[in-house]
Amino acid sequence: MEKYDLTIIIPTFNERDNIENIVESVSGVMHDAGIITEVLVVDDNSDDGTIEKVREMQEKYSNLELIVRYDDHGLSQSVTEGFYKAKADIIQVIDADFSHPPKMIPEFYTSVAQDGNDVVIGSRYLKGGDIENWPLKRRLISLGATFFGRILFPEITDPVSGFFAIKRDVIKNAVMKPRGYKILMEVLGKGHWYQAKEIPFVFKDREEGDSKLKLSTIIDYILQCIDIAVYSFKHHETNVWQEWKKIFKFAAVGISGIFVNVGLLYFLTEYFGIFYLISSLIAIETSIITNFILNDLWTFKGNESRFSKKWHRFVSFQFVSVMGVLINMGILWALTEFAGLYYVISNLFGIGAAFAWNFLVNRNITWKK
Ligand code: GDD
Repeated sequence: MEKYDLTIIIPTFNERDNIENIVESVSGVMHDAGIITEVLVVDDNSDDGTIEKVREMQEKYSNLELIVRYDDHGLSQSVTEGFYKAKADIIQVIDADFSHPPKMIPEFYTSVAQDGNDVVIGSRYLKGGDIENWPLKRRLISLGATFFGRILFPEITDPVSGFFAIKRDVIKNAVMKPRGYKILMEVLGKGHWYQAKEIPFVFKDREEGDSKLKLSTIIDYILQCIDIAVYSFKHHETNVWQEWKKIFKFAAVGISGIFVNVGLLYFLTEYFGIFYLISSLIAIETSIITNFILNDLWTFKGNESRFSKKWHRFVSFQFVSVMGVLINMGILWALTEFAGLYYVISNLFGIGAAFAWNFLVNRNITWKK
């Protein structure tokens, strides 16, 4: 069997106007990069001539393979079948319609083959990434989908991207339940991976043919999110579980901070006779310090932070905590004054918002790898 460095999977359904150009384009890019590539078109029995076109091209391209599927129609199902038939150990997925720039594939490949990443994702939401030509409705649907995806994978900005590369080992023995459009979510939720990297790219909407996204696709997506969440709670080694474990630990540390805060406020005021507002300041700062120590040693243990010095992490945590207090108080004030809510209820919203702020910013800045 010929040894390929990379398999590029191109899922197709009625792509007659694009297929020739995309195969030529990826082949040219990979040839120039010196990466020996299998191009695998996985087609769902298109009736517009796509299949005939690929067969014709196979005479010119000996590395061009075609799978025609007759059952279980679907983008995710097609890509998954491609995963299992791919001959190379590294696999790239790309749309046929030039929404994804073929010239970036060598960068994805290097990032897996040489930099040791298990998954490399083209992100529309990282700095430098963008979406061109999308109507507002499409943007809103995508933002909604990305929001749900980011609850499951807080460290990934674009978990629903269709442009990504993986090591084949990631999906080996993974119990995949492919459906809908978001195959990457399935890979991230069920696959075995340790290191993921995102690369920004500009998504260009198709110029030829139509998007096949339907309402049923959105329903499929919601079911898929639920399935991945349930799976993650049953299989503790998954990345989703690891991430949620951090959230629970962070919450537990936060609760311990409340005890430190209230205990010290009472102790300093009652036993040392310190004015209660001064006691409160000392109590707040002490709880920030104990929270920091616990989060550093426990919640985010093993996260090699970009801040290698402990005091840098502390300064960041301190700043985030003060902002968190302001968010809490701001929401308490606004909901009580302007929405007429009972202040204790307003405060619960404030605590929720401050918790989300504290976790996300600390997770993504203070202890960001
Ligand atoms: N085999 C197969 N079966 N291929 C399909 C099917 C299907 O049922 N539906 C779509 N495709 C192929 C198309 O031919 C194209 O190559 C690619 O999948 C993307 O199809 P589009 O219909 O153009 O997708 P999109 O632009 O709406 O969605 C893209 O962006 C999303 C991010 O918002 C895809 O890349 C999605 O995977 C991605 O999540």
